[in-house]
Amino acid sequence: MSGNRTFTMIKPDASEKNFCGAILKQIQEAGFKIIALKQTRMSLKQANDFYQIHSERPFYNDLCSFMSSGTIIPAILEKENAVEEFRKLIGATNPANAEAGTIRKNYAESIDKNAIHGSDSDENAKIEGNFFFTESEKF
Ligand code: CMP
Repeated sequence: MSGNRTFTMIKPDASEKNFCGAILKQIQEAGFKIIALKQTRMSLKQANDFYQIHSERPFYNDLCSFMSSGTIIPAILEKENAVEEFRKLIGATNPANAEAGTIRKNYAESIDKNAIHGSDSDENAKIEGNFFFTESEKF
């Protein structure tokens, strides 16, 4: 059975370009409820830990360095079938392949600077949400 929560993170490229407000508006208008939200910046060590799952991939070092280069907005979101619905809303990892109207089509510039993250499973949504938020920060 699919869960009703997912985790997202607006990335440093979108943050730098002041797209956060527009992206959060699109998320809310798509019916996602914000359960937790903050603005923060990851240290390189935190990015290394967060992306441990990708540590064997050739892009791991560049990814961690980029993700710790500026402010991010992590959030936990709620909607029925949240993981799948949110991945539809953000579009393909590479914005060149993303469908019109998706967040990445609207705001991302490349596969590296792709504006936003969305968890790929219920299990990862839980792990990633707990990486940034304590129970008392979830509403
Ligand atoms: P995301 O799925 O949010 O988290 C992992 C990120 O690695 C992914 O977004 C991309 O921004 C980045 N990345 C860079 N190169 C690749 C690649 N070749 N395949 C998948 N992800 C990549």
